Amino acid sequence: MRKETVEVFIEEKKLNRRIAELAHQINNDYKGKTLHIICILKGSIFFTCELTKRLDIPVKIDFMQVSSYGDGTESSGQVKIIKDLESPVTGKHIMIIEDILDSGRTLSNLIKYLKEAEPASLAVCTLLDKPSRREYPVEVSYNGFEIEDRFVVGFGLDYAQRYRNLPYIGILNFEE
Ligand code: IMP
Ligand code: MG
Repeated sequence: MRKETVEVFIEEKKLNRRIAELAHQINNDYKGKTLHIICILKGSIFFTCELTKRLDIPVKIDFMQVSSYGDGTESSGQVKIIKDLESPVTGKHIMIIEDILDSGRTLSNLIKYLKEAEPASLAVCTLLDKPSRREYPVEVSYNGFEIEDRFVVGFGLDYAQRYRNLPYIGILNFEE
């Protein structure tokens, strides 16, 4: 059995400071508009809560769940919609909230799908970005932190559905 350890990588205070900066930017950019947030389950729930609490523009929140990863740390298979939106996004200012941008496959497919509904505008907001892993180009409007190619957990991010509840972003290490 491999032993897993988690080392703190981005502490909670630093996450929330950066999220407050993103919220400030979004408040300015969307003045006078209603923002339709699309939280991508499950990883983005913590980020969505912390971000939307700090927004003072009118906000609506909807959820989608897609799958592209199995239980491992490497990508597999194609993006599949497990849970679709409740309300149509046609003519609305929508913002996809994603925990982490890796190869870009999930987001590039999702953007294609959502654009078919002809929203008034579409923005992408990610907490973390691993630019060195990109295979599919994605235009990101708001990003919290650029990180190296390390497998991270916590603040919503999981490894085999565990560690989502950690209040910080940690690096997952395996020891023999
Ligand atoms: P992409 O489609 O390759 O960009 O993968 C994005 C999805 O992969 C994210 O929404 C996460 O669910 C998952 N993912 C990518 N990197 C990590 C990581 O370091 N830790 C946990 N999940 C990850
Ligand atoms: Mg995810």
